[in-house]
Amino acid sequence: MRNRIIDVSRIFLPAAFCLFIIFEITSAQMNISKQPYGVLPDGKSVDLYTLVNNNGMKACITTYGGIVTQLWVPDKHGKLGDVVLGFDSLDEYVRHSPYFGALVGRYANRIAAASFTLDGEEYHLAANDHRNSLHGGKRGFDKVVWKAEPVQGGDSVALRLKFLSKDGEEGYPGNLSVTVTYSLDNDNALKIFYDAITDKPTIVNLTHHSYFNLADSGDILNHEMMIKAGSYTPVDSMLIPTGEVRRVDGTPFDFRKSRRIGAEIDSVAGGGYDHNFVLLRGREPLSLAARVTEPVSARLMEVWTTEPGLQFYSGNFLDGTLKGTGGRMYGKHSGFCLEAQHFPDSPHQSKFPPVVLRPGSVYHQETVYKFSTRQSQ
Ligand code: GLA
Repeated sequence: MRNRIIDVSRIFLPAAFCLFIIFEITSAQMNISKQPYGVLPDGKSVDLYTLVNNNGMKACITTYGGIVTQLWVPDKHGKLGDVVLGFDSLDEYVRHSPYFGALVGRYANRIAAASFTLDGEEYHLAANDHRNSLHGGKRGFDKVVWKAEPVQGGDSVALRLKFLSKDGEEGYPGNLSVTVTYSLDNDNALKIFYDAITDKPTIVNLTHHSYFNLADSGDILNHEMMIKAGSYTPVDSMLIPTGEVRRVDGTPFDFRKSRRIGAEIDSVAGGGYDHNFVLLRGREPLSLAARVTEPVSARLMEVWTTEPGLQFYSGNFLDGTLKGTGGRMYGKHSGFCLEAQHFPDSPHQSKFPPVVLRPGSVYHQETVYKFSTRQSQ
């Protein structure tokens, strides 16, 4: 009988090669990369950073406004889809973005009559929403270029952004030094850490303004939402809180049990939700605030935060005129925002949690947007 000499390399090498290919396809390597994104009319250069985790989840963040331009998240089949609304170019963010994906400050949401009094002194802000101030004024934190520094270590990859808002900028007192860190980990959580210090008493309320659509197309009315809030702050026709804190029981604002966003949206005055929910807090500083699922993709997003309020905005002002990422037209309700924050117009409402920051104290907030799919829960 002829001796059969098996050349192991003929079996082993192709097998190893196949395994390598499978590994390459299924397992991304956590990393952060940088590329030029464009130049602003004033000559400032803007970069785009891409954070990727080991599951292939990807967050693209620009130094202009700290904007999350894209967020790629797996669906129930493991297929990645971009779950945030955005644009294809820097120029479009500059020209007409309704705060897509941006960092918002110094004061997220509205301040009535664009003025406030602190320690007996009156401060005047830019009125950019009728007679009120919205999202930090004419040139809020969403329209400035942040200094960026990539941070990689352990089981996460992060981008640290810094901005110094000068004393008097947009009418606010004090030099406010702000650091925001976006961190992506292998549990598919995008964490945002905010810190700020001041050299004069001032007010601060920072948030993140992504418009999410977990189906990555169409509208968000079939998404199912739970918000852990037993009350909300009703508003007037200009979306300024009346000062009342009202129970959600028996109203379209009752999201304590998960239900379709569209279930009662038509009975909400003003074309949909644009309201601050008063969060029921757990014992830990970081508490679950909301859980949203989309039935077809089965994508699930949880929001955890240290903040007392959550602005649920159902994209009511989107009207189909904005052409977004990949040429998608954004119609009414094509995205929803869950902005963790202090309550709107707090400087005028003594019963709302305070928003004053004094020298020697540190403002800190943390919010987590964590993704999974329904069956993996
Ligand atoms: C916030 C506000 C909305 C709207 C959007 C931006 O979420 O609450 O009223 O101004 O920003 O269009």
